[in-house]
Amino acid sequence: MTETLKTETLANRRVLLVIGGGITAYKALDLIRRLRERGASVCPVLTAGAQEFVTPLAAAALAGERAHTDLFDRAEEADIGHIKLARQADAVVVAPATANLMARMAGGHAADLATTILLATTLPILIAPAMNVQMWAHPATRRNRATLEADGVRLVGPNAGKMAEAETGPGRMAEPTEIADALETMLAEAGAAAPGLGFLSGRPSTAARPLSGRRVVVTSGPTHEPIDPVRYLANRSSGRQGHAIAAAAAAAGAAVTLVSGPVSIPDPAGVTVVRVETAREMLSAVAAALPADIAVFAAAVADWRPETEAGSKKIKKDGSGPAPLTLVENPDILSTVSHLETGRPPLVVGFAAETDTVLDHARAKIARKGCDLIVANDVSVAGGVMGGTDNTVHLIHRDGTLETWPRLGKGEVARRLVTHLAGLLGR
Ligand code: CTP
Repeated sequence: MTETLKTETLANRRVLLVIGGGITAYKALDLIRRLRERGASVCPVLTAGAQEFVTPLAAAALAGERAHTDLFDRAEEADIGHIKLARQADAVVVAPATANLMARMAGGHAADLATTILLATTLPILIAPAMNVQMWAHPATRRNRATLEADGVRLVGPNAGKMAEAETGPGRMAEPTEIADALETMLAEAGAAAPGLGFLSGRPSTAARPLSGRRVVVTSGPTHEPIDPVRYLANRSSGRQGHAIAAAAAAAGAAVTLVSGPVSIPDPAGVTVVRVETAREMLSAVAAALPADIAVFAAAVADWRPETEAGSKKIKKDGSGPAPLTLVENPDILSTVSHLETGRPPLVVGFAAETDTVLDHARAKIARKGCDLIVANDVSVAGGVMGGTDNTVHLIHRDGTLETWPRLGKGEVARRLVTHLAGLLGR
């Protein structure tokens, strides 16, 4: 059974996109494309700084409508006016949100078109911070972030990784698909929380919170299995898919515990996060988080760990060649929970990360692990799933039925999965 899915998840939505003045402004152009692909119309507004990096013409060409830049543009004020601009949309997205722009927003400045719109608007605001690692860590930026969050502004990212100045750490703007996913979540939640608001069209109501009153446990990320105090065995999992599932379950009204291995992505909002390092710690944390209605095992758990417990001393080269590494098997968390005699969650979901004959392996896995559903994906290097932002998944149910979804952002996979699980639970 193959389902054809509509991917215009932002159809009829209008987004006011404020582009700030940072090197990642070029990615805002890709964001325009991604938002339009999902059916949204995009009205670009560029700060003076943004125009040092990208041109209004490029933004307009991609948006298919004029880009706005000036507060005191007579023709523009007669035509539409900045206050109208601030109202005629479903949401405002700021990408990149530079340290300067965040400071001006937090201070309530209105010295240019972008900040005037941000002060005048009553729309939900999502910002994608992007700045140097030190600027992000600075107490002033931390204060501004807290002020903005207290004002109801949502953040997506920043992610950790290599920066333009060859530094590493949090500060990289979230990827365009992550921003689009976060926007979808924000709009769904704004619609569910305030069904009377006039500025949102076609918003979901109680149907958007099908997991109200339910408990969900999600595992995510890799595990690290220490060899000694400085070395460990790990894998390439970013945690993006598991974190997105936790966020989507929370947005659907569930009380969510996310048990996460070491990742460099931010915690999802509205979720209890338990951080662990090893497979054995992950199993204990999952056991402590039960009972639950749904357990989703999206973590890439290390199958083996070094037999010898890592002591406090680093293993040294002693001239006799590499130290032998004997591995022992880790507990299988998915299988353990699936086979619980008491307290088994009614819906246990596993993932199958495969590089070949994906469906055959996944079918064998569902039988072996005893779960109700396997979400299988191809993690061969060519697909770019591991660490990437998109995913193509197949759903294999215990009764053998199969659904294949098109290539989607991990946030969209998460939302569809949560809706699917709510449906299965209700049956
Ligand atoms: N899993 C788990 N505990 C483990 C290993 C895997 O909970 N020790 C879970 C994963 O979270 C995932 C599922 O089992 O939901 C399948 O993981 P995968 O790595 O694809 O399968 P493995 O059991 O490790 O089998 P193989 O590596 O042989 O494919």
